[in-house]
Amino acid sequence: MRKPIIGGNWKMNRGTPQEAKDMLERLVPLVKDIDTVDIVIAAPFTVLVTLYDTLSNTNIKIGAQNMYFEEKGAFTGEISPIFLKDIGVEYVILGHSERRDIFKESDALINKKIKKALAMDLKPIVCIGEHLEEREANKTTEIIKYQINETFKDLDKDEMSNIIIAYEPIWAIGTGKTATPEQAEEIHVFIRKLLDQKFDRETADSIRIQYGGSINAKNAEDLFNKENIDGGLVGGASLQSDSLFQIIKAADKSIK
Ligand code: 13P
Repeated sequence: MRKPIIGGNWKMNRGTPQEAKDMLERLVPLVKDIDTVDIVIAAPFTVLVTLYDTLSNTNIKIGAQNMYFEEKGAFTGEISPIFLKDIGVEYVILGHSERRDIFKESDALINKKIKKALAMDLKPIVCIGEHLEEREANKTTEIIKYQINETFKDLDKDEMSNIIIAYEPIWAIGTGKTATPEQAEEIHVFIRKLLDQKFDRETADSIRIQYGGSINAKNAEDLFNKENIDGGLVGGASLQSDSLFQIIKAADKSIK
């Protein structure tokens, strides 16, 4: 059985200590009794220390939204996994489509970051997904296959067991246009099939695959009820404690 995981990706929002603290102080009591769902908040670097202070002794884990693959050195503007570990970060989002599209991160770079994160005992949440034009040209599975092969290049099954995959169709991100549960499930099944071919059935069955893209309190339940959708990576709706709580509750209800 796969434990659902809900990640709140705050992106470049909620980046001051006061607003982070205000949101989390509301969220913590709401979710304190939920032990059936892993809960992660991936916040901007500027508030990770605030999360460390606010979330210790709670069931909410800390995530970063990016990291570099070197530990130290002349890499102006980059963040070392060592710094993240030191302030209690356990998860790191890698290969988000905004990093790929806006900051031109390649699959090869993402692969290096994944390897480094795993070596440092950080759990990567690796995002994959197709653009609208690619979906319309019936290229979704081709793109997904390419991303899986390239981002997970040279990883073994043990390493894969510490990875979470987030399927985020780019056309659904921040657009209010969610993939239907059926559309999402179809791709999640396809991803599991690829993982089976690349690794083995056990690995494919154990990896958690989140859906991401305009998840909200209303559509979460139908998405999470699908057999192969193991929670979600939530952008806009993770900024308010109430909506995030509703989404976490939907994941709790969906336990299969
Ligand atoms: P939205 O939920 O705002 O569409 O963002 C999804 C996302 O990109 C999460 O990583």
